[in-house]
Amino acid sequence: MGIREELERIRTEALKGLASAEDEKSVEEIRVKVLGKKGELTAILKQMGSLPAEERPAAGREANMVRSEIEKALSDALDSVRKKMRDRRLAEETVDVTMAGRAPARGTLHPVSIVTEDLIDIFRSMGFDVVDGPEVETERYNFEALNVPADHPARDMQDTFYIGDGLLLRTQTSAAQIRTMENRTPPIRIVSPGRVCRADELDATHSPVFHQMEGLVVDKGITMCDLKGTLERFAQEIYGADTKVRFRPSFFPFTEPSVEVDVSCSACRGEGCRVCKGSGWIEILGAGMVHPKVLRDCGIDPDVYSGFAFGIGLDRLATTRYKISDIRLLFENDLRFLKQF
Ligand code: PHE
Repeated sequence: MGIREELERIRTEALKGLASAEDEKSVEEIRVKVLGKKGELTAILKQMGSLPAEERPAAGREANMVRSEIEKALSDALDSVRKKMRDRRLAEETVDVTMAGRAPARGTLHPVSIVTEDLIDIFRSMGFDVVDGPEVETERYNFEALNVPADHPARDMQDTFYIGDGLLLRTQTSAAQIRTMENRTPPIRIVSPGRVCRADELDATHSPVFHQMEGLVVDKGITMCDLKGTLERFAQEIYGADTKVRFRPSFFPFTEPSVEVDVSCSACRGEGCRVCKGSGWIEILGAGMVHPKVLRDCGIDPDVYSGFAFGIGLDRLATTRYKISDIRLLFENDLRFLKQF
């Protein structure tokens, strides 16, 4: 076969191969086969020297033309397979922006948090500040300063988790009263919500960990009427405008007089039902006028100032509001339960 025919064969074969190349690899294979060190065209170019002198220029021109034609075809083929691959990738990786999204799972507030926030709103609207107190307390703040000395029988009312060194898990948010009176001067108007602990057996109505919100008002001329008005306002905001509040005499070492406070049952409007165990009333808090001794020990003159305090059971508030029959549900963290709020 003469050089011309050979060149023509190489050309046709290469162009045909490139026309049907599907990827960069096959283009590269053709390049190596034709133009590589041991390529077909390379071999021919090397042979040029052995041609008779008069054939050389024409054959050389021909070979160079074939080479540049193939080089161009190679680079065109490379462009075209690259574009094809890019198009294919773009098509495969398309994001359908009109597709409906997947909503992130959203948590809900715990029922006790909901009532706590609601109470805070109500008391804020009456001019109360919110203060925080430690859950690990000293015996002094939890008991002594609240007029409960070490041998006082009232300590038995609240079974306490002692953790040594005069420290305990607070049994009542009332400890916050003392801290507040030590740190502020009257007029004082605060609420202090938080967790408290008592060594109680866990059952449908008792939990060793529960929640209270303490309230404290100290100013000149504060009377029990202010206490009742404040609690009435709060109860009506929570349970409805026709809610009634009733005081029953009680005892707390740090208030005198002391009262147990009931609200008319919102489930039966006072008729008597399962929620209120037939009485028409639900007990929600303890309260009273701050004992003069407690004021004096905190550096507040009881002859000038008086005050009232109350302690609301938040878990009870949540269970009655949401008709939850067992207080343990509040602490089990069962998502099926928690998701309902
Ligand atoms: N600390 C009392 C309790 O836990 C409630 C209370 C608070 C009573 C403030 C009177 C005044 O039982």
